[in-house]
Amino acid sequence: KQTLRIGLIGFGCVGQGLYDILEQRPEAGFEVARIAVKNPTKERSLPLSRFDFHADDLLQDPTLDVLVEVIDDPTEAFRLVSEALRQGRRVVTANKAMLARHLPELVQLQRESGGKLLYEAAVCGSIPIIRTLDAYFGEESLRSVTGILNGSSNYVLTRMGEEGSDYAPALAEAQAKGFAETDPTLDMGAFDPRSKAIILAAHAYGTFLQSEEVLNLGIEHISAVDIAFAAALGRKIKVVAGLQRLSDGRVTALVTPLMVAPTSPLYSVDHEFNGVLIEADFAGEQFLRGRGAGGHPTGSAVLADLAAIRQGYSYQYPKLTASPLTYATDLELEIY
Ligand code: HSE
Repeated sequence: KQTLRIGLIGFGCVGQGLYDILEQRPEAGFEVARIAVKNPTKERSLPLSRFDFHADDLLQDPTLDVLVEVIDDPTEAFRLVSEALRQGRRVVTANKAMLARHLPELVQLQRESGGKLLYEAAVCGSIPIIRTLDAYFGEESLRSVTGILNGSSNYVLTRMGEEGSDYAPALAEAQAKGFAETDPTLDMGAFDPRSKAIILAAHAYGTFLQSEEVLNLGIEHISAVDIAFAAALGRKIKVVAGLQRLSDGRVTALVTPLMVAPTSPLYSVDHEFNGVLIEADFAGEQFLRGRGAGGHPTGSAVLADLAAIRQGYSYQYPKLTASPLTYATDLELEIY
């Protein structure tokens, strides 16, 4: 097979994870041809000559077959990804905050330009949840999608619960292991899993929720006493995202700490693992569990997208009925 030339934009935890995986898998047929980073003075694991310092130069390079965008900043990511799609390029991104904000425009752009965008790495790291909802459950109606979508907060809760750690050192560990966002408020305040819930809602229900429509409560105020109280009841505190279709067709979503009982498959999802429970009308319940954060697990999802893009795969958004630019602004939040 022909080797595809990758333009890698961003060389943080996920970018390095992907680079490392591709080094170990030359037979996969992907070559990291150029790497763009923002900061020319930061110490890197590769020689300085390996880097570009203007991501736009990669967009202007016609020899690159696929662009992989794995930077932090959602505004800059949207600028780059939307420009690449406008050019009709193939793009893989892991930027959940950018997708949660701009999915309708990105879907529209793909339809207009023929560009392709895949983003399995944006939700639940290594778990193939987007493709599962999009393709496998494309036509079946889903009652609910319930999951632990943030590895860092789950790691902190696990360390505080099982191992009796304090909050601050547990968070520092999650950061050191490359699970946490640069701004840990995104993880601990459940903004990151809210973005992921919005992306899942688009594929599960064809609905573009806006962030104000999804309540997110984090773990900043969960103390060792709360965790011990839950344990005394035989439960664990987990940050759970819930999407549900109501009988009148509307979709609700929220992310909040809950006390989870051992009868739930989410109970044993610990440390940086994520888990998603899908309840479908005909298939019944299914549960996916895997590593939700970290360079290699998330890089593995980018690799899966690269392989899919080589085969011409694209999301079908089978449940989008209205124009993709129609936001579901009339949704009311219902806590269940
Ligand atoms: N900070 C994210 C998490 C990384 O902890 O889940 C993976 O999206």
